[in-house]
Amino acid sequence: MSSLYGKKIRIAIFGQSHSAAIGVSIDGLPAGIKIDIAELRAFLRRRAPGQSELATARAENDMPEILSGLVNNITCGAPLAMIIRNTDVRSADYSEVRDTPRPSHADYTAHIKFGGHQDVAGSGHFSGRLTPPLCAAGGICLQILRDIGVFVGAHILRIGDAGDDPFNPIYISSADFEAIRDNPLPVLRREAGEAMRQQIQDARDKGDSVGGVIECAAIGLPAGLGDPIFDGIENRVAAIVFGIPAVKGIEFGSGFAGAARRGSENNDGLYMDGGAVRTRTNNSGGILGGITNGMPVVFRAAIKPTPSIGLKQESVSLSGAENTMIQVQGRHDPCIVPRAVPCVEAAAAIALYDAWLDR
Ligand SMILES: Cc1cc2nc3c(=O)[nH]c(=O)nc-3n(C[C@H](O)[C@H](O)[C@H](O)COP(=O)(O)O)c2cc1C
Repeated sequence: MSSLYGKKIRIAIFGQSHSAAIGVSIDGLPAGIKIDIAELRAFLRRRAPGQSELATARAENDMPEILSGLVNNITCGAPLAMIIRNTDVRSADYSEVRDTPRPSHADYTAHIKFGGHQDVAGSGHFSGRLTPPLCAAGGICLQILRDIGVFVGAHILRIGDAGDDPFNPIYISSADFEAIRDNPLPVLRREAGEAMRQQIQDARDKGDSVGGVIECAAIGLPAGLGDPIFDGIENRVAAIVFGIPAVKGIEFGSGFAGAARRGSENNDGLYMDGGAVRTRTNNSGGILGGITNGMPVVFRAAIKPTPSIGLKQESVSLSGAENTMIQVQGRHDPCIVPRAVPCVEAAAAIALYDAWLDR
C-alpha cells in the first residue's frame, strides 16, 4: 500500500488537498508515553503556510484533532489517529489541469494510473497538503526520540545559487538545531538566508520557481541500528523522504562527491575516544552496511523547483490529443524548500524511531 510506512510503528496517511480533512494513524506506539500537544502544534506551525511572505497564500492553521490513542495526553496503546481539517479550498483553480496536465506535476501520471478518476482539486492526493499528517506523526516521533537522547534537525543547504555552510558532520549538538529551528529560513549562516530570500523573491517576481537542498542530521543514535541489504538506515530513510512530494534525490555522508574521491580521501579513520569508537571524518554519514556506527547520521535531500509556475509552458490536451500551452492558476509556493524542512525532519524521525524500536 502506497500510503503505509514502517515496521514496528505503522503510519497510514490519508486525504486529498481539498477533501474534508487529511490525517494519519500511527499504530504500534508503545503505551505510557506522554505527548506534549503544544510542542506538537508548534512543530506543525513551522510547515504551515503564512510563516513568511515567501510561501503560498493558502491559509490553513494545520492544527491536528486527536481522535484516538491518547488518554490525558499519554499514549494508551490504541492506534493514535489525528485529522487536520481543510478549510481554505478553491477547487475552481484546478479545472483546467484535468485535461491539460501541468508540466512536471503528477497530473498526467495520476490520469494514467487512476483512469481519470483522480481528484485534481488542489492536486488531490499528490499535494504538499499531504505533508501535515507526516509532520504530525513525525512530531510525535521527534518528542519520543528526544526523550531517549536522540535529536533530529535540518537546515536549508541551498536555494538556487545561494548556499549555506554544511553541518560539521563530526560534532553537531542539539543546540545547533535549536538555534535555527524557529527561523522561516533555517540556515547556519545568517547571510545565506538573506541570499536565499532574494533567490525566492526573484523567482516569484518572474512568475517562476526555484528548488534547493535540505541537509538533515540525527545525533545520539547508538551504533548498531538498522540491517544490511534492504532494511538499512539508508533504505528506510530514503523510502520515507521520497514520500515528500518534490524530493528528487537523497545522498548520505559525502554522497555523490565521495564517488569522485580516492578511498584514502573518503575513508573515515577510526579512533578510541574514551571508551567509545569514533571516526575522524564522517563521509559515511554515520551509516556503514546499513547500520549506524554511532556518528551523526547526515543526509541531504534535493527538492525540485515548484512545478506550478505562472509562466506559459508546453502541455497537451488529453481529450483533443493535441499540443497546447498552459499557464497555471492557483496559489503556489515559489519555493517548496523552506516548508519542506520540518517535513524532512519528521520523515527522518519516523524512520529512525521505527529502526530504534526494531533494534
Ligand atoms: C510542502 C510542499 C508544498 C508544495 N507546494 C506545491 C505547490 O504549491 N505547487 C506545486 O505545483 N507543487 C507543490 N509541491 C510539490 C508537488 O506536490 C510535487 O512536485 C508533485 O506532487 C509531483 O511529485 P514529484 O515532484 O515528487 O514527482 C509541494 C510539495 C511540498 C512538500
